[in-house]
Amino acid sequence: MTVAPSRSLRSSAELIRAEEPVLAHNYHPLPVVVARAEGAWVEDVEGRRYLDMLAGYSALNFGHRHPALIEAAHRQLDQLTLTSRAFHNDRLAGFAESLAALTGLDMVLPMNTGAEAVESAVKVARKWAYDVKGVPADRATIVVAADNFHGRTTTIVSFSTDESARAGFGPFTPGFRVVPYNDLAALEAAIDETTAAVLIEPIQGEAGVVIPDDGYLRGVREVTRRTGCLFIADEIQSGLGRTGRTLAVEHEDVVPDVVLLGKALGGGIVPVSAVVARREVLQVLRPGEHGSTFGGNPLAAAVGSAVVELLETGEFQRRAEEAGVVLRDGLTALVGKGVRSFRARGLWAGVDIDPAIGTGREISESLMREGILVKDTHGSTIRLAPPLTITNEDLTMALGTLEQILRKGA
Ligand SMILES: Cc1ncc(COP(=O)(O)O)c(C=O)c1O
Repeated sequence: MTVAPSRSLRSSAELIRAEEPVLAHNYHPLPVVVARAEGAWVEDVEGRRYLDMLAGYSALNFGHRHPALIEAAHRQLDQLTLTSRAFHNDRLAGFAESLAALTGLDMVLPMNTGAEAVESAVKVARKWAYDVKGVPADRATIVVAADNFHGRTTTIVSFSTDESARAGFGPFTPGFRVVPYNDLAALEAAIDETTAAVLIEPIQGEAGVVIPDDGYLRGVREVTRRTGCLFIADEIQSGLGRTGRTLAVEHEDVVPDVVLLGKALGGGIVPVSAVVARREVLQVLRPGEHGSTFGGNPLAAAVGSAVVELLETGEFQRRAEEAGVVLRDGLTALVGKGVRSFRARGLWAGVDIDPAIGTGREISESLMREGILVKDTHGSTIRLAPPLTITNEDLTMALGTLEQILRKGA
């Protein structure tokens, strides 16, 4: 790795201990303290190297410190970093134009985090229902799927079905109807004249990379069109190359009314999210009705534009598809040898390990000790989502390490 040596004065163990009294305990990280990174590899305080097979939950689709993204950020840091939307900045128009063109939609509402994009879409859908569809005031409903993950705000956890995300955080926001994922009949039955939108993940990431049946997304498009409500696709984790397409909905040739992007849109450098939509939808917002001090800032717009430029080449989508074959073949060979089943699309997989071998957490810790970083989800499921820049050799090596761990036990 050609990066400067760490300036950490404390060891990994000391840094982990130091966090305990001063950091909220809302996470349970693996005991690794990363100090440097490049491409698909990270290095800890002591100089141990690890292959990053999580990639910041897809925020690092282009790898750590992709040269084109770092250069765009550096260039912008020397020019202008923040104006707020009280003034225009010279980077925002180009970012919005290129992002709208990339997604095949018309208008962009720039925000920062994924949860903010989801919150913004909920507001926009409700406003559209009142202003355009004619739903009586304060009656709009939004249909969502069970086992969803859309973020952590009070409104978003109001329609979560994960008790650990909800318990202790009520009272909750009304106006949401939860139906089983991948069940078109249930979805259609939940829609009525008050329904503003259907909000789903085209692939449920946090639920364990759950891929709906072929035809489900086309069905959602058809039902929402026929019943006159919006189709909002949360592509915050599935989008921007991860599945071998720019958007996961492209696997079914579907264009939603609203697409939510985040994570990789900021290139792993700055938080950048966006609501991208048809003009008829986003034009319901008028000055003063919604905003964000940092949304659309010039640094975010410069990095976001550089991300869009990378995706315009098609190279990363192709790479996800090609490396995805290596991933799928490797996992197929492990089925019955410690892997019970798996679901994969592009360079993204949810792998159900035989619980007799270990929990997802135990498998993740064993992999960490062997220099591979992954994240568990529920029970004995682990998630693989390496940077799209990973080499076939590194991917094969990681699968080999998993095979050894499954053979020995976690
Ligand atoms: C599908 C989806 N939507 C929204 C979010 C929330 O994004 P953020 O953590 O940036 O608020 C996530 C995060 O994992 C996600 O996977």
